[in-house]
Amino acid sequence: MTAPAAVLPEALLLSESALRHPESAKWQMYPPEVLPLWVADMDFAVAPAILEALQARLTRGLGYAPFEVEQTRLASLLRQKLSAQGLNDLPTGGLRTLPGVVPGLYAAVAALSSPGDEVLTMTPVYPPFLSAIRDQGRVLKAADLVQDESGWQIDWDALEAAVSPATRLLMLCHPHNPTGRVWTRAELERLGEFALRHRLWVVSDELHADLSFGGPHVAFASVHPGLPERTVTLTGPCKAYNTAGLGIGAAVSHHLALLDRMTLLTRGLQGHASALSTTMWVAALESGADWLAQVLAQLRANRDHLSARLRRELPWARFSPPEATYLAFLDFRQHPRCADIQQFLIAEAKVGLNDGPPFGDGYQGFVRLNFATSPAILDEAVDRIVRAVERRE
Ligand SMILES: Cc1ncc(COP(=O)(O)O)c(C=O)c1O
Repeated sequence: MTAPAAVLPEALLLSESALRHPESAKWQMYPPEVLPLWVADMDFAVAPAILEALQARLTRGLGYAPFEVEQTRLASLLRQKLSAQGLNDLPTGGLRTLPGVVPGLYAAVAALSSPGDEVLTMTPVYPPFLSAIRDQGRVLKAADLVQDESGWQIDWDALEAAVSPATRLLMLCHPHNPTGRVWTRAELERLGEFALRHRLWVVSDELHADLSFGGPHVAFASVHPGLPERTVTLTGPCKAYNTAGLGIGAAVSHHLALLDRMTLLTRGLQGHASALSTTMWVAALESGADWLAQVLAQLRANRDHLSARLRRELPWARFSPPEATYLAFLDFRQHPRCADIQQFLIAEAKVGLNDGPPFGDGYQGFVRLNFATSPAILDEAVDRIVRAVERRE
């Protein structure tokens, strides 16, 4: 089987030798013979427009960037973008920078619930959702998603069963990591009705919004007039623009008191946005669109190729192709080594994936594969996985 089409220009498809450098968490995690398709970095070169802006910024010194984000170019660009996603008329002060989206998840749990309160989320989910709840002494209430022929779905009965009068906060991942679901407007409306009926605050992590293969992103808080007052939306550039090493995000809400609570509880811990991270985000918003369109085309080609190979070569491995993100959540529970499938794949396939259990109870036997890599590396990794899991001696 041939590799997926190379859509990105050669210069943007980084080679293994360029990627395997000592500062890369992704490429240093495993020994050199293992292909690392785990943490959510892309193996693509950063957009040239971002590199140029960073280089120009370096020539102007590295003092503090403006402390009042609202008065910056970043704020006006972000407001424009969020407005296109349905978050209109954000009040002044409705946008606060964060050192990353995970600090925003932790701050939201701290501000919107108290120790001993229940916090609800849908599993499987990006592991820091679960640690933000557990680490801060809240009670995790998890409603499992269900997988049918058309993909991962919300289990509305499980959600209703999990919520109680002690539940304060719903943590939503939209688009959803690790399944790649983009919740439809109808699903968002029903979730909104659910949150309002149970008087829940909502933190909606929309970090993957720009990585949707369908239409434009619809912000959760935009689908019902009651939601802006109950929701904090988290966003950032790092997944779409491959800039996680620079660390920046934003918390956005129409309800300033929610953001004030988050700020107050974490004052002194969040630090200030770094000069290079703000420069990078401005460049991404101003000049990154063409690069992102090319990257999305490559991701789509990779996703389709991966899906076709899995369907043909491992029909027993359940997999619903993602509607967004570059993450594939694979169900290998029918494999004889499902009890240690991640370790098995490292040892026998020489491919390093994320293990299922950190995404929630009941996900042993699942692995998450990051397909944001060159077609050649992706195909080599799939070859190795197929060979290893089909070997039955
Ligand atoms: C849903 C989600 N939220 C947050 C993060 C991490 O964001 P940050 O690096 O800005 O803390 C990730 C990283 O993969 C993610 O998938």
